[in-house]
Amino acid sequence: MRKFNVAVVGATGAVGEEFYELFEEHDFPIAKLVPLASSRSVGKTIECCGEEIKVKELTCEVFEEEEIDIAFFSAGGSVSAKFAQCAVDAGAVVIDNTSHFRMDRDVPLVVPEVNPKDIALWRERGIIANPNCSTIQMVQALKPLDDLYGIKRVDVCTYQATSGAGKKGMEELVQQMQDFFAFRLDESEHEAFAHQIALNVIPQVDVPQSNGFTKEEMKMVNETQKILHKEMEVAATCVRVPVLRSHSESITVTFEEGVDIDLNQVKEAFESFENLVVVDDLENSVYPMPVTATGTDQTYVGRIRKDLYRNNILHFWNVADQVRVGAATNALRIAQKWIELEGDI
Ligand code: A2P
Repeated sequence: MRKFNVAVVGATGAVGEEFYELFEEHDFPIAKLVPLASSRSVGKTIECCGEEIKVKELTCEVFEEEEIDIAFFSAGGSVSAKFAQCAVDAGAVVIDNTSHFRMDRDVPLVVPEVNPKDIALWRERGIIANPNCSTIQMVQALKPLDDLYGIKRVDVCTYQATSGAGKKGMEELVQQMQDFFAFRLDESEHEAFAHQIALNVIPQVDVPQSNGFTKEEMKMVNETQKILHKEMEVAATCVRVPVLRSHSESITVTFEEGVDIDLNQVKEAFESFENLVVVDDLENSVYPMPVTATGTDQTYVGRIRKDLYRNNILHFWNVADQVRVGAATNALRIAQKWIELEGDI
């Protein structure tokens, strides 16, 4: 089997670091691994597949020098804007975890369980975009429902972990909790979030838009429509909560008029969908939660119930590890699919 030279851009970040464990767990066919970060990280090492590997500085030339075949970008939109084209010009396929290219018409936006065939569009620009973390776990649950009954509208409230803001987000929560127990929370700094996140919830993720929604909320609208190839109505309220690294979502789906939801059918559709796991036993207080989803590669659904008033409305709860399912694991699955479909060119 062919092996690939792989670059991880953002090699010292929360998502970047998750890749090394995943490469080992999935036996990813790596010939050479090249971790790339800013000049601040030169001299650091990362550990992967039993080896210590030195972090190199990200430059435009490094992709050609290292003969990179696959480049995973997780260092922020401005870094992708500046360097993704360098990787493409050097002959690599870029799998980009930022929002920078997601809505470009000639860049596929892929969740491999949902729209794997869209990967073929990678030839246009050499780039495949990894969707927003909240969108990935939601569309994994929406796809089987849409296939079953046809979705008309989705209303979602998110409960997003601090990992969505990278290492600095998680560190800010931990620091503020320590400050709370030292009776100095009122002196605690906040940088990653607009307000104190410890013992709080913040009804704002990302920057405001002119329509009253936030950028994160509009990502959920636009990306869902692009991935599902359907202009369904979507309304999102994105909320940051003091959780370390798994996002939760309360989702209400309205199906086409005349649909009479059968909960057994819904559960079967969820259960037979790849990487989706039903955890639903309210009587025994069993449902998905961040503490049980963290560190896993599955998306969990529970609290599945029909609306009290309308036969075509379904409510459920959805949880996944933001760093894995919402970022690194989805990127790795894209790469695996790309290798399967296109990797021998
Ligand atoms: P560095 O540690 O050298 O700053 P997180 O999402 O956890 O905040 O991590 C961001 C990742 O992106 C880190 O690996 C960081 O490297 C990297 N990064 C940020 N800015 C740049 C840049 N201008 N050039 C290269 N890497 C960058």
